[in-house]
Amino acid sequence: MALRSQAWYTGLNRSAFHHRAWMRRGLPDDAFDGRPQIAICTTWSDLSPCNRHLQEVAEYVARGVWEAGGVPLEMPVPSMGENQMRPTAMLYRNLAAMAVEEMIRANPVDGVVLLGGCDKTIPALLMGACSVDLPALVVAGGPMLTGTWRGRPLGCGTDVWRLSEEMRAGTITADEFRAAEQSMIRSRGHCNTMGTASTMACVTEALGMTLPGNAGIPAPDSRLLQLAHHAGRRIVRMVEEDLTPSRVLGPGSFRNALATLAAIGGSTNAVVHLLAIAGRVGVPLSLDDVDAFHDVPLLVNLQPAGAHLMEDFFRAGGLRAVLREIRDRLDPKAITVLGRPLVEGLETAEIVDPTVIRPAADPLKPAAGIAVLRGNLAPDGAIIKPAAASPHLLRHRGRAIVFESPEELHHRLDDPGLDVDETSVMVLRGCGPKGYPGMPEVGNMPLPAKLLERGVRDIVRISDARMSGTAYGTVVLHVAPESAAGGPLALVRTGDEITLDVERRLLRLEVPDDELARRRPVLPERTLRGGYEALYVEHVMQADKGADLDFLVGARGRAVPRESH
Ligand code: FES
Ligand code: MG
Repeated sequence: MALRSQAWYTGLNRSAFHHRAWMRRGLPDDAFDGRPQIAICTTWSDLSPCNRHLQEVAEYVARGVWEAGGVPLEMPVPSMGENQMRPTAMLYRNLAAMAVEEMIRANPVDGVVLLGGCDKTIPALLMGACSVDLPALVVAGGPMLTGTWRGRPLGCGTDVWRLSEEMRAGTITADEFRAAEQSMIRSRGHCNTMGTASTMACVTEALGMTLPGNAGIPAPDSRLLQLAHHAGRRIVRMVEEDLTPSRVLGPGSFRNALATLAAIGGSTNAVVHLLAIAGRVGVPLSLDDVDAFHDVPLLVNLQPAGAHLMEDFFRAGGLRAVLREIRDRLDPKAITVLGRPLVEGLETAEIVDPTVIRPAADPLKPAAGIAVLRGNLAPDGAIIKPAAASPHLLRHRGRAIVFESPEELHHRLDDPGLDVDETSVMVLRGCGPKGYPGMPEVGNMPLPAKLLERGVRDIVRISDARMSGTAYGTVVLHVAPESAAGGPLALVRTGDEITLDVERRLLRLEVPDDELARRRPVLPERTLRGGYEALYVEHVMQADKGADLDFLVGARGRAVPRESH
């Protein structure tokens, strides 16, 4: 089979001269003789600290590519630092995916290795690569090592939420807060909790899009570089086999990912990303598929659902040990980038430390999956992660206290006159994909000071936002349609009663239909600055559809574009 790069490099004519001449820069003549040209799509950036080390990882991928007879070509693509970007990195996931797709297709490339880590980077890389459908595999950059403060391990994100509430409650000082801040980020790598980055690494391995054993290798661990070398070798063979994402990713792959998401107690953000990736490869996937795995047991004792951190997870046996425990829930036919079943070889995977990874016979919780709620407040669905919620709030009826924006929330939060108690239901709107825009991680609203002072650490919170994968609490997220798209969330008034019943999958606004029909929706105030933001707001789909841009759904293929000169 002729490789697409040959459309650029074959022949003795003006055009091939052009393409070859500039690419030589020391390359031997036979670099253009039909060898696979492998793009290493890297998301390293100084402004994505979690991915800063991917330059070194790329070098090791390149070694493997050379060794297997390919030509490695490092190709930086947009990167999104979750901890820096405003209004939210999520606004740019689709922009990055679009750039990844177009850059792969426009270039003389036959296969791609995707280097990501920080939350949105792996989803964006996968979405873009799936829409081109050239052979592709992911190398997940890995979590950082555990930082400690006063002998206490610090979980990225999770402990930020905890410590900031402690400081507001007056139980730690400002100096202690700063000292903890200096201790948290101990090494290269992404967040060390089972937040979105670690979740997406696990879920991507379960999809079959990494080499087996990748998820959870700490970023500074030399085994990551070894795996990168293997990935370089493997992508060259994948090009020969034409093993594309559409051949790896079938409905069973997504079911394996959802079972894994539950067993690891993973981030709610994975739901949006998996829906978007499925849309790119044309696999039908809906929120009902997500709920179908609610009964998978929680096996991984990691923050935010549990106690430990990613370094412990890897030491305890890693994802393969988890997959072994849930193998009766895995599709035996779904394959990986090796072209072999995901379940192959699982018998040798082993739990080394059962305090971190529990056997299925003795789980942390019997049912850990994400629950999908519906009702007149969320006709197209909303989600909650019961494993990270307070059991006593999973069935609750209380009075709404409505906030129109996170800014208003922060402004009123410490007001001693705020009419709120532990039975209240905090409602935040205007924070969906169109409303904010970009669907930021503001759904885990901080609690009012007067409740914190009384020792309350959780109340029911509902929004059309997302929440950080490192957060916890009884938090209902991704309400669809969002308020800015005319969802009923826009009709809620302070004082209305709301019923949450996770067991019955219910989210109901206890206001009669005729009264709701009389109400005018409250829409977010915003001025769009044009450019990408306006394009995004016009075309973004709701959370239950993965919040992709409508015109990016599906694959547009690898066909070689017209000649440039
Ligand atoms: Fe990058 Fe958490 S901020 S993974
Ligand atoms: Mg995040």
